[in-house]
Amino acid sequence: MDTAKGNTVKNTKKVLLATIAAGSMLALSACAGTGASGEGGGDGGLIGVAMPTKSSERWIQDGDAVKEQLEEQGFTVDLQYAEDDIPTQVNQIENMITKGAEALIIASIDGTTLSQVLQDAADADIPVIAYDRLIRDSENVDYYASFDNYIVGVQQATSLLAGLGLTDLDGEPAADAPAGPFNIELFAGSPDDNNATFFWNGAIDTLQPFIDEGTLVVKSGQTDFEQAAILRWDGEVAQERMENLLTSTYSDGSTVNAVLSPYDGLSRGIISALTDAGYSVGEGWPIISGQDAELDSVKAIKAGEQYSTIFKDTRNLAAVAVDMATALLNGEEPEVNNTKDYDNGVKVVPSYLLESQIVVTDNITEVLVDSGYWTEAEIG
Ligand code: BGC
Repeated sequence: MDTAKGNTVKNTKKVLLATIAAGSMLALSACAGTGASGEGGGDGGLIGVAMPTKSSERWIQDGDAVKEQLEEQGFTVDLQYAEDDIPTQVNQIENMITKGAEALIIASIDGTTLSQVLQDAADADIPVIAYDRLIRDSENVDYYASFDNYIVGVQQATSLLAGLGLTDLDGEPAADAPAGPFNIELFAGSPDDNNATFFWNGAIDTLQPFIDEGTLVVKSGQTDFEQAAILRWDGEVAQERMENLLTSTYSDGSTVNAVLSPYDGLSRGIISALTDAGYSVGEGWPIISGQDAELDSVKAIKAGEQYSTIFKDTRNLAAVAVDMATALLNGEEPEVNNTKDYDNGVKVVPSYLLESQIVVTDNITEVLVDSGYWTEAEIG
């Protein structure tokens, strides 16, 4: 895959750094030239931004960043959250169309349920950018802004291997790797989220050789995506599933040594199940992955409860989506770096994929604090 970073993201990063360093005045001058009038050519035009839920911190960060950056470009923003309710999200998008939105940026709840409303958008000539999650089964998705979701899964699994001492964080075999076998249990994301299978495939491809050689054992035998999937990424459901796994599979005195979790909110549920079952941090506590660098989970990493998370800088993702919208409205072609991997069932949607990073206790400061994502005070 082409991972070269182009001008858009370099510009975006410049804008971002400027914003962080010296406020919006500098940011505006840094991005002069990206558009006709009002820097981004916004001219007060309305952009609709549909986000899935406020129940997860990352989407609040995403929504805030997209709104702020669009406003800096001179747009007016209608930002809506649907609390993971599909009809609510459809209504919100319909309203944005009625209000005369010039473009839509959508992080879908269920990637398969927006075909009709996107047809309405297309009929009104409104371009649509799928934000982080691919919108499926519709030809009316113009561009996709996301991270390399397969690599996110690879990183989640690699962090587990590193936590168990089998490899380093780059996936290189450890010289003094323990023989195992280690018991591992697998969780996947919401089956209606296109990302969930990408994360799963990246993780399983990475773990499979260790499962095949017997170093890792999925003791429950639950190795299918359908068995591991957690609808709507619900932490309580993950907690219940973990409780059931502990009862059904580990009441014989054996322990679970690692848990593949694709999202911090699921990891927190898994941690609660383990604690309730009598596990305590220290020897015998499993290696647990995550995703999103949510504040509570960064704290959990510091406390030794969670081993890793995957940091996806929502500010950079927002900048890619905003650049795409701005380009489209200026009659330019948005920059993409992947035109093969994201087939939505009707067409391959041209995509810009960003890179993610593994975070463990040792690099929290370097990755999350030095970049200004969280402050030392917030992390505690
Ligand atoms: C996002 C993840 C997030 C998950 C749950 C996915 O679509 O890519 O970053 O953890 O949804 O909100």
